[in-house]
Amino acid sequence: MPKLLHVSCSPRPDSSSSAGARTFLEAFRQAHPDWDVDVIDLWRERMPEFAGPIVEAKYARMKGQAFNDPQRDSFAEAERMAIRLSLADRVLISTPMWNFGIPYKLKQWFDLIVQPGLTFRFDPSEGYFPLLKDRPTLVILASGSDFVTGMNRGRIDMATPYLREILRFIGINSVGFVLIGPTTGPQQPIEAARERAHQRLAGIAASF
Ligand SMILES: Cc1cc2nc3c(=O)[nH]c(=O)nc-3n(C[C@H](O)[C@H](O)[C@H](O)COP(=O)(O)O)c2cc1C
Repeated sequence: MPKLLHVSCSPRPDSSSSAGARTFLEAFRQAHPDWDVDVIDLWRERMPEFAGPIVEAKYARMKGQAFNDPQRDSFAEAERMAIRLSLADRVLISTPMWNFGIPYKLKQWFDLIVQPGLTFRFDPSEGYFPLLKDRPTLVILASGSDFVTGMNRGRIDMATPYLREILRFIGINSVGFVLIGPTTGPQQPIEAARERAHQRLAGIAASF
């Protein structure tokens, strides 16, 4: 059964990015009733701190050294998480923008899965190579400001370039973005932005 993986990154029940994801998934399920939708709620998921044996395992792999037992055990956790991504035929990431970038839980997820031998390969003489196959991926990014036209109220969007780059690094190049913002300030622009984004999401879902 083909699978869509939804990585859900807002901790808020009243979240704009999660509302966008619900609109998208409703249209997606109608168009693809036979697909399995696997959801990772990053605020409920048990993710190890990236310290101790797991960080040492990364360095061991980069140097081509064998794991000790604690490193092997902790690396297995990262492996399980990366396999969940690698088995997905489509990927949906719904996330808030926090302090110009992404929430730390989403960064922690990338720190865990972006590992040598799992999602990329490192060759000291030739450099870095992605290990995942490309697959259609959509990012729904909610922000207090409106970044559709560029910088806003003196603030910059570093989430979009970061996500594009980290996904490209592991092999996922077919990435689209739907920005939902502004989500703060006067009501009329908030509602207009929400309406525009939800219409786009329903449209994208049908042929995703
Ligand atoms: C810790 C934190 C930092 C934020 N930083 C930014 C920011 O840098 N730029 C911005 O436009 N909005 C920022 N916001 C506003 C959120 O992006 C906005 O409320 C968005 O709707 C949150 O997504 P959600 O509704 O899916 O949780 C921030 C909100 C929080 C809680």
